[in-house]
Amino acid sequence: MKNEVIEKDIKKLSKEPNLKDYAATYKLFNWKAAYQHIDWFPKGKINAAHNAIDRNARGDRKSKVALFWEGSDGEKRKYTFLELMELSNKFANVLKTLGIERGDRVFFFLPRIPELYYGFLGTLKTGAIAGTLFAAFGEQALLDRLQNSAARILITNKDLKERVDKVKDKLPRLEKIILVDSDKNTDYVLSLTKLMEKAPEDYKVAHMDPSDPAFMLYTSGTTGKPKGVIHQHLAILHEHMSAKWVLDLREDDIYWCTADPGWVTGIAYEILGTWSNGAATLVYEGRFDPEKWYDLLQEYDVTVWYTAPTAVRLLMAAGNDLPEKYDLHQLRHICSVGEPLNPEGVKWGKKVFGIPFHDTWWQTETGGILIANYPCMDVKPGSMGKPIPGVVAAIVNDKGKVLPPNNEGNLAIKPGWPSMMQQIWRRPQKYESYFVGGWYISGDRALQDKDGYFWFIGRADDVIKTAGERVGPFEVESALIEHPSIVEAGVIGKPDPLRGEIIKAFVILKPGEKGSDKLLEDIQKYVKKHLAGYAYPREIEFVETLPKTRSGKIVRRFLKAQEMGLPIGDTSTLEE
Ligand code: PRX
Repeated sequence: MKNEVIEKDIKKLSKEPNLKDYAATYKLFNWKAAYQHIDWFPKGKINAAHNAIDRNARGDRKSKVALFWEGSDGEKRKYTFLELMELSNKFANVLKTLGIERGDRVFFFLPRIPELYYGFLGTLKTGAIAGTLFAAFGEQALLDRLQNSAARILITNKDLKERVDKVKDKLPRLEKIILVDSDKNTDYVLSLTKLMEKAPEDYKVAHMDPSDPAFMLYTSGTTGKPKGVIHQHLAILHEHMSAKWVLDLREDDIYWCTADPGWVTGIAYEILGTWSNGAATLVYEGRFDPEKWYDLLQEYDVTVWYTAPTAVRLLMAAGNDLPEKYDLHQLRHICSVGEPLNPEGVKWGKKVFGIPFHDTWWQTETGGILIANYPCMDVKPGSMGKPIPGVVAAIVNDKGKVLPPNNEGNLAIKPGWPSMMQQIWRRPQKYESYFVGGWYISGDRALQDKDGYFWFIGRADDVIKTAGERVGPFEVESALIEHPSIVEAGVIGKPDPLRGEIIKAFVILKPGEKGSDKLLEDIQKYVKKHLAGYAYPREIEFVETLPKTRSGKIVRRFLKAQEMGLPIGDTSTLEE
């Protein structure tokens, strides 16, 4: 399988790619020289939102559509770069009147609606830190994130606010809630429409240091609560260049990124890097549905599409007759991110759309694509590709020593790329723990073949990837033990042909409680409500005991080995 190659000939591509010669560019490129590709204020100051929007709105692209938006109910809207500049300026003014200062946290708990996009940009314009929350989050997930970030303002809608109301007593630092769908102003809850009506359209964008924080996202590891990953304004440079090389974007593209801005992909490649390249972004508020997705690709003449392996697998499962009914000849480049993309998925792209899916690898912490397949480079189906110019990747052992080709080890990156996380919010030690022997250690296991291609093997820790979402087992376990019938819980990711992994929980019930289908459903509902719609265990097994270390820590690796019928390895540290 690893010898299979999809050869590329750039003369045969429908457009000459932005990156024409990977090897030559990789050799010559350096980030400092690339500073000229983005717009700077005097004295080395910068603003990511200025680069994404205002730079275009003040130039030739001002009347060009930047955002094609379609709501879940079929409503359609369009926004030009100029309109997005004015809306984000107004929003920045709204924040200013509410006393928001540089470095304050402003959070968004919204579905994919236009307010989220211009609100995010407006926040960056003030120098405050924008945080995004998935609309699927439940009470506990919200509380953890809003409490830890000490957010001052939250923008949401009436529906989602009900979840916030359940925890707002525990959020004394949250000063105001702004509703996008209310006309009423009270002391604590304000109407966005009313605030925007009064706000001026001009705003002097904050001139930031390149390392000043711009946005934050919470993400999960093996243990503990989710951590706040902070990204700096300079990340725009990395996002701009990688969108150019990997997504091959240019101003005449209609580009559809199916990710939500609650995920780093939705920020880096739906808002920042894509708009900075002048492309038009399609945003669809609704859920996954094969027919609707093909409809959208056709109706908007999408040229470049960035999606996730689970969606690819679900589309494959929906059959090849379906795409044949649509005219998708405009589609010229397709990419995927978030979890391993099987070789079958890569090749299915070629069969159905005439172009292979191009896998890309990165993480919330990396702020931008680090390893990728490119339009100009041969694709080895199943491989994540090669590092983007300016990024040095290697496979290292646990001490940070580089391993020779074809050896499994830790996937590591030389620190210093412009979108590398700038800090973990209020957890400096956690931040430091990512770096070993001069390398950023990703937490993924991989190998590099003799041609320089990287191949994903698995996570080095217990982090679960279900339908592309990163879920920390600890968060699910914590939600489970809050359930009145449960005493203890251990959670693992179980391989699944469609979703990559599903969440499986092993639970010990309180004495006298009996496992039943009804209880199982009740537990699932409970986790959905408290944690997140996607982070609930699809499988639950009622057990009498859980494997633990002598210090009482549940050994998930043991549960996983048992589940998969694999050798359980060293058990010397386990409890009797
Ligand atoms: O395990 C890797 C997997 O997703 C993790 C990062 O997840 P998250 O922070 O949610 O960011 C995803 C979107 C940028 C990685 O540590 N992952 C991501 N891309 C790939 C992947 N696994 C295999 N192949 C990929 N292309």
